[in-house]
Amino acid sequence: MTHDKERRIPLALIVDDDRNIRTVLKGMLEESGFSVMTSQNVEEALPIIVEQDLDLVITDLKMPGKSGMDLLAECRGLKPAVPVIMVTAFGDVEAAVSAIKRGAYDFITKPFDEDELLNVIKKALSESRKNRELVSAYFGREEAPLHDIIGRSDTIKEVLRTVRKVARTDSTVLITGETGVGKELIARAIHTESHRRDQPFIKVNCAAIPDLLLESELFGYERGAFTGAVTSKPGRFEIAHKGSLFLDEIGDMSLHLQAKLLSALQNRSFERVGGVKTIRVDMRIIAATNKDLQEAMRAGAFRQDLFYRLNVVPVRIPPLRERLEDIFPLTDNLVRKFGSRNRKTITGVSPQVMEAFSGYDWPGNIRELENVVERMVVMADADTLGTDLLPDEIRGTARTGESFRKRIESISRLTEKQMIIDALEKTGQNRTKAAELLGISRRTIQNKIKEYGLQA
Ligand SMILES: Nc1ncnc2c1ncn2[C@@H]1O[C@H](COP(=O)(O)OP(=O)(O)OP(=O)(O)O)[C@@H](O)[C@H]1O
Ligand SMILES: [Mg+2]
Repeated sequence: MTHDKERRIPLALIVDDDRNIRTVLKGMLEESGFSVMTSQNVEEALPIIVEQDLDLVITDLKMPGKSGMDLLAECRGLKPAVPVIMVTAFGDVEAAVSAIKRGAYDFITKPFDEDELLNVIKKALSESRKNRELVSAYFGREEAPLHDIIGRSDTIKEVLRTVRKVARTDSTVLITGETGVGKELIARAIHTESHRRDQPFIKVNCAAIPDLLLESELFGYERGAFTGAVTSKPGRFEIAHKGSLFLDEIGDMSLHLQAKLLSALQNRSFERVGGVKTIRVDMRIIAATNKDLQEAMRAGAFRQDLFYRLNVVPVRIPPLRERLEDIFPLTDNLVRKFGSRNRKTITGVSPQVMEAFSGYDWPGNIRELENVVERMVVMADADTLGTDLLPDEIRGTARTGESFRKRIESISRLTEKQMIIDALEKTGQNRTKAAELLGISRRTIQNKIKEYGLQA
């Protein structure tokens, strides 16, 4: 299931050290239907570029400290599909040209004409959509459809059932699981499956931001709230209004902020740092952590009352080693993805590699699997990935015991059966089309249908 991306509210980031320009641009963009975040320098902008699903960046060229050109370079590296529009001083043609050469989508000169700017933005968005499809064919991960959640194990199916159910509600969700199991992927899926899908999905990484900063990131601040607060700024809570707020690594939040968060959740309202006005918000909260919160509560590092507020719908994503069946379809998908990205025709991995994969612990879970497969594809000389390409830590687990082989065999039979069922379902039980979909002959599918007793 995919949702019409065009109906989502686009999210723009404005980077400019001049407050007036930020305000004017923000107003213009908001009037044209954007959600807008702003930063006054490059350092502040970078975490936003990393964390948010931005559609557009507009940056000033000349700023104290790092320049718009530096930001452009970072943005090209981090999010190549996001168009960057450079704001340059009137007459500075050289800078403008150099920005375009380094990958800026376009430039506008100050003082800017509103219509001209909106035209450039419109064009950037419509072209970048195509651009994104192109880019995602090569770079996969960044813009992959949210429903690219792969897995055939009963446990992941159960997770997806919960996702669909909870998506229809506004309930708070707490996602737990080891690093790399797909917590963020699931959080985004809950958002896109929900009625809030056209509203912003805003992520806050509670572990990556120092405590004091996190407070103002979350709740915003008023001018003069602390030294350096020369303007007021809305927090992520305000920006996520009507959408979903993803509080990642919630287990790393300080007790002080936990108290503030609890009160904001209870009252559905809060005040900016240094502010008196109460701001009401309506959003779904999705929290995630790889920490054991029960343990943290026992140690007094996590508030029990906050835990119960967040844990309305718990979603536990099991580690990859507990759902061996998922390794097959995931590997298959990754081989194809990295194959096309590296312009190599790789048909798959050898049975010995699959065996080693299934015997390995995967402490980094799916992220680790992604990295391993990517490395193997890059190094590959043949079209099947063999054990010679395995990293040492995985090679060591390649076992050849008879019972182990049987276990793998039964899993791959299960997978095969499921794939045939899926293909038949997708094609309305049309065997010829199902065979085509699977890239096997009609005779093979006939045999398999018989073998697995799938006759209607
Ligand atoms: N079921 C899945 N199907 C396809 N890709 C997946 C699946 N689960 C995870 N991934 C991919 O694995 C990588 C790690 O997932 P994600 O970032 O969501 O994990 P995480 O649990 O948030 O990890 P961390 O705790 O380190 O933040 C991502 O690239 C994600 O797309
Ligand atoms: Mg994560």
